[in-house]
Amino acid sequence: MTANHNAFQAAILQGIPTSLPPKHQFPAGVNRAPKRKDILSKEEKYLAIRNALRYFPKEWHAELAEEFAEELQDYGRIYMYRFKPNYKLYARPLSDYPAQSQQAAALMLMIQNNLDPAVAQHPEELITYGGNGAVFQNWAQYTLCMHYLAQMTDEQTLHLYSGHPMGLFPSSKNAPRVVVTNGMMIPNYSKPDDWEKFNALGVTQYGQMTAGSFMYIGPQGIVHGTTITLLNAFRKILQPDENSGGKIFLTAGLGGMSGAQPKAGNICGCITICAEVNPKAATKRHQQGWVDLLIDNLNELVARVRTAQENKEVVSIAYIGNVVAVWERFYQEDIQIHLGSDQTSLHIPWTGGYYPVSLSYEEANSMLQENPAAFKKEVQQSLRRHAAVIQKHTDKGTYFFDYGNAFLLEASRAGADIMAENEIDFKYPSYVQDILGPLCFDYGFGPFRWVCASGKEEDLDRTDAIALAVLEEINTTAPPQIQMQLQDNIRWIREAKKNKMVVGSQARILYADAEGRMKIAEAFNIAIANNTIGPVVLGRDHHDVSGTDSPYRETSNIYDGSKFTADMAIHNVIGDSFRGATWVSIHNGGGVGWGEVMNGGFGMLLDGSPEAAERLKSMLFYDVNNGVARRSWARNEEAVFAIQREMERTPQLKVTLPNLVDDDLLKNLF
Ligand SMILES: NC(=O)c1ccc[n+]([C@@H]2O[C@H](COP(=O)([O-])OP(=O)(O)OC[C@H]3O[C@@H](n4cnc5c(N)ncnc54)[C@H](O)[C@@H]3O)[C@@H](O)[C@H]2O)c1
Repeated sequence: MTANHNAFQAAILQGIPTSLPPKHQFPAGVNRAPKRKDILSKEEKYLAIRNALRYFPKEWHAELAEEFAEELQDYGRIYMYRFKPNYKLYARPLSDYPAQSQQAAALMLMIQNNLDPAVAQHPEELITYGGNGAVFQNWAQYTLCMHYLAQMTDEQTLHLYSGHPMGLFPSSKNAPRVVVTNGMMIPNYSKPDDWEKFNALGVTQYGQMTAGSFMYIGPQGIVHGTTITLLNAFRKILQPDENSGGKIFLTAGLGGMSGAQPKAGNICGCITICAEVNPKAATKRHQQGWVDLLIDNLNELVARVRTAQENKEVVSIAYIGNVVAVWERFYQEDIQIHLGSDQTSLHIPWTGGYYPVSLSYEEANSMLQENPAAFKKEVQQSLRRHAAVIQKHTDKGTYFFDYGNAFLLEASRAGADIMAENEIDFKYPSYVQDILGPLCFDYGFGPFRWVCASGKEEDLDRTDAIALAVLEEINTTAPPQIQMQLQDNIRWIREAKKNKMVVGSQARILYADAEGRMKIAEAFNIAIANNTIGPVVLGRDHHDVSGTDSPYRETSNIYDGSKFTADMAIHNVIGDSFRGATWVSIHNGGGVGWGEVMNGGFGMLLDGSPEAAERLKSMLFYDVNNGVARRSWARNEEAVFAIQREMERTPQLKVTLPNLVDDDLLKNLF
């Protein structure tokens, strides 16, 4: 044991320190969170300080009250920077954590991974991704949480209220070790400004999806999902004798998730043009090798794209500028766009998520600070222009899809001509409606993932090989409906290491259905029991079959009217929690915005034990088939097929199936 290691363990065990730590020094070059809205009244500011001081002994209050007031003034939030620990934050091997419970140690590993500066977007402010996806609201919550996890036994459960550790409660071995809720609000208090206000008060947080549930594994997850989406989008538009060579994919955003688009475009073999207004973001992605070329001039862009088309190059180009300008210029130049999408951050349109085409990047940033109301108008006008030019291209054959960033929703709210004739649907599908829903989620395929808790690369290699063997075996008897999905994922897992996308923990993502997830997990558990690999943490993105109710994204292909309900996500978190999850989480918010989605996830430690073998079967089965059953009840034929097949395999499963009505019968009823 090194001195550093001992100090790390001692700091965790201690929790809130016994003497006041020195003031915090910010590391150089770290990406800091933007200043949040100054939304609290004077009275509310007093309340925020009073709330923050609850974590500390009285004798520190005078000093801390002033410091926290300053933080509130300067950053719009109280992060309690002074209490950020001195030790390095990263996923250590499981055995490094001081713990009474291996399951609790697995949680510590995953929490630290989400806060690792190599992984997290704004590590000082405990934000993992998405601009506001918080692991905790402040450093006191982190410290206290780790302290509880270090002492807890397998007969206690820690309850986290939006990052706040309410405490350890007696439970049982079969209960989850941690229950996480993030941003749960009384529905009438779930507007964007409610998040600003209650987050500033220190009583709620935006957990995004995997940030607040400790299951983020860096950009690899998003590259895989984007690749699957693009592959299938091309399948939709290409003739059987065509391929994606020389075809154009135009989109926007080179940020956290959006930055995966050019890489996925290259994997799919097309020409990708990705506009990004922020030169820093574009340059960063270029330096990281996620996009091939940087161009900041439209004439040059047009010329380069024509050359790429002639040579059928596989190339990705970052255009530094506004995406609307590219759509418009390509229309003038008669450049055919085959696939079009958008990943600007329209889940936060008024605070810099979307830059209007009428302003330069600098002008937009000043207006955003100085005149937010005028900025909002510019955004709305730009969205109308954006939608209008997309329409011109789709009239010429472009396949445009919404990438779950609330583009269609915000464009419609801005008054853009974007609604279908029935005035209910949008003119264009979302990627879930047309692609991920019917081809993946309805069959139970979704972003299963795992982390090798030993921290060893060779363990990840072994798990890749195990997963590959399992999928190949399943594929030998799979029905034709799911063979393409299996083959895409066999190809992915075969090439996963080559794509070099591991950042932070030794993690892997792989789309799999219930059968695949259970068989892979079972094979891992056996390998752990045989000491071939160390313990493994299982999980998934919340962006999945059953965990998320989100009417414009995960459940946008639900057409029985129930897409505005959130029963599925709630059943899922409750169902997983008594079937063996090590931790469960349920969040309000996520990628499409506060109040727009309920999403949940889980984590499960596999330790090679017979109990783990039982847990994985019971929980993974429900975690996927809950959503397949609901999708089937919504009359989605792929899901009806999948759940009937599952009932044949599993006699204890009895799901209510829908009876389909003859449309003619309804014609003259009203
Ligand atoms: N990739 C996925 O699988 C996926 C899935 C669902 C939803 N999303 C959504 O995609 C959006 C983007 O996510 P992110 O993490 O990349 O966010 P981000 O904020 O890190 O990146 C968005 C980027 O868009 C740029 N931008 C804004 N307006 C622009 C404009 N008019 N022209 C050109 N560039 C512009 C911004 O400068 C920013 O860098 C979010 O709303 C997210 O919820 C992504």
